Amino acid sequence: MGKSSINVGIIGFGTVGTGTARILLNNRSEIERRIGFPVVLKRIADINVRADRGIGLPGGMLVSDVSLLINDPEIDIIVELIGGIHPAKEFILSALKKGKHAVTANKALLATEGSALFEAAKKNNVSIGFEAAVAGGIPIIKVVRESLAGDRIKSVYGIINGTSNYILTKMTDEGVDFGIALKEAQSLGYAEADPAFDIEGIDSAHKIAILASLCYGLPFSFKKIYTQGITAITPADIQFATEFGYKIKLLAIAKQSGKEVEVRVHPTMLPREYLISNVNGVRNAIYLESDSAGPALYYGSGAGEMPTGNAVVSDIIDIARDIRGGSQRITGLGMPQNPGVKMKKMEDVLTSYYLRLSALDKPGVLSKISGILGKHNISIKSMIQKGRDRKAVPVVMMTHKAREKDMAKALREINRLPSVAKKTVYIRVEGEEN
Ligand code: HSE
Repeated sequence: MGKSSINVGIIGFGTVGTGTARILLNNRSEIERRIGFPVVLKRIADINVRADRGIGLPGGMLVSDVSLLINDPEIDIIVELIGGIHPAKEFILSALKKGKHAVTANKALLATEGSALFEAAKKNNVSIGFEAAVAGGIPIIKVVRESLAGDRIKSVYGIINGTSNYILTKMTDEGVDFGIALKEAQSLGYAEADPAFDIEGIDSAHKIAILASLCYGLPFSFKKIYTQGITAITPADIQFATEFGYKIKLLAIAKQSGKEVEVRVHPTMLPREYLISNVNGVRNAIYLESDSAGPALYYGSGAGEMPTGNAVVSDIIDIARDIRGGSQRITGLGMPQNPGVKMKKMEDVLTSYYLRLSALDKPGVLSKISGILGKHNISIKSMIQKGRDRKAVPVVMMTHKAREKDMAKALREINRLPSVAKKTVYIRVEGEEN
């Protein structure tokens, strides 16, 4: 039998730190009843020890000195909830070196430095839990690591940034402007400290980097992920998407074909009848298709004090059970990389496209445009032209599947045509075999 309790120290007493502390304190006896021994929150460190978080802590629990946690031999698990790369990385590494297990919600850190952190955990024979790093309220890490441990994952499609999904939903349902929708999303408290992380797709890329590592054994390679945000989406494109029977979502995609895995984040048109197309507001969802289990959609809250706090506590309990059971289930399954797979180059990705051209309404213009597309092996599936004007009119096309490289070349040529008034807007399309 090990010692009587497993002790926890939390670094960072912000939104998620408060949720985690609340659950550990309020549910302490219920957790003990379920797992058979106590999990005790011993200390919390934060630079701000004065702010009222609406939670009563025992005297002396909240300190400003992180070393009081990292150097405390009684603390078994260090929870890092300050976010950002530095000093979060150094705090976790110091804890691992002292033989402590770590739990983190830090997606940016894992997506960029995950390989080094998991290496250090392995060397020190301890675990890193990170359920809270991807889609807080959806236990997707457990699903992949445990429920699908023996399956082959074909594809992952995630709406994993609540802020962007809220903005796109508002623009679609209420026709509001991007700026107004962003302000509303920020007031809900979901947005990152720098909202560019949300609307430029960076937060989604952090999360899909973690999922792609877990699902396919790719190294953590956030910087190599093709990332395009939602800032250029206009009400006109949302309107056309509706006319063609699609919804626009910011999707994070990872799919394996042979030895290559494509990983990308961009606004995507999806058939409106798909379940994932109807995931609205700040909600998150991950559609995951695997060989044996087949297709599944996981839906829930992607952020927030209590859903994310719950994810952190689930990792703490997993690790506490491992410590007590003398096993290393989490480290054992860890994040082993697969040297047999690599990330597919974006230019080789095959996908369908929505194109919105601004073309002069004159004889011969369309044949020039379709000629360029044909020359680059791009086949048009459907097309509409709106209005009649002596100036430019919108010409909207859906294409069959084409290679990114070919589309980039074709668009460069099309945009140079004197009869094309503005840069062509393109949005990738997923779903159905097109
Ligand atoms: N900013 C993130 C979002 C929070 O909007 O989903 C959760 O990671």
